[in-house]
Amino acid sequence: PTTAIIIVAAGSGTRLGAGAPKALVHVGGRTVLGHALDGVFAAAPMQVVVVAPAGHEGVVDAEIAASAGERRPLAGVVTGGATRQRSVAAGLAALGAQITTVLVHDAARALTPAPLIDAVAAAVSDAGVIPALAVVDTLKQVDGDDVVGVVDRSVLAAAQTPQGFPRAALEAAYARAKAAGEEHTDDAALFAAAGGVVRSIAGSERAFKITTPSDLERACMLLGSTNG
Ligand code: C5P
Repeated sequence: PTTAIIIVAAGSGTRLGAGAPKALVHVGGRTVLGHALDGVFAAAPMQVVVVAPAGHEGVVDAEIAASAGERRPLAGVVTGGATRQRSVAAGLAALGAQITTVLVHDAARALTPAPLIDAVAAAVSDAGVIPALAVVDTLKQVDGDDVVGVVDRSVLAAAQTPQGFPRAALEAAYARAKAAGEEHTDDAALFAAAGGVVRSIAGSERAFKITTPSDLERACMLLGSTNG
């Protein structure tokens, strides 16, 4: 395959309060990462690079083995860094020479459907592609506890992953951000800061990011399980 997906799973998961790296927390009989891998291996064949929390490479490798089936040779593990951006950079360094399209995916978006992964990969051109959802809440601009303004939600969208990019341009954008000492919250922002064009396609409610304990409950409910 000429497409690769980098799954970043090296976050600490402090906001989840589970006392373990978020991607390795169990929900519905599997880890968060295990569910994410099931989605990825149900998509079209691609190189899979999982970025593991330092010291947890072995368990991450076992999760890949449990999920990959005949695609095992396409998948591997690298060790993550102190920020998401550094973790993605570690994944980029592990790509095969033949890779021309790169998807970057949060392991924490554990229930992302395989068709969304395929749709992002198919939409990548010279431009980057992100899945996005319309914002449903009314948003306020605040200053501490004071509500100081309204925000027009019709011009806003909530970004999800996987986000897809042409490989050479993404690598150049990462090199640029590193040299400039910039830290971006997602790959689309980093790509745009280097002058890249980013487009959006329809996201999925199921691609939500597990961040808080209530997100874990929601994932558990969607999986039809209460045994965590
Ligand atoms: O913390 P947050 O939920 O924004 O993290 C998004 C994704 O980035 C998660 O899947 C997390 O595991 C990953 N991450 C990482 N390395 C870091 C921080 C976050 O791989 N240093």
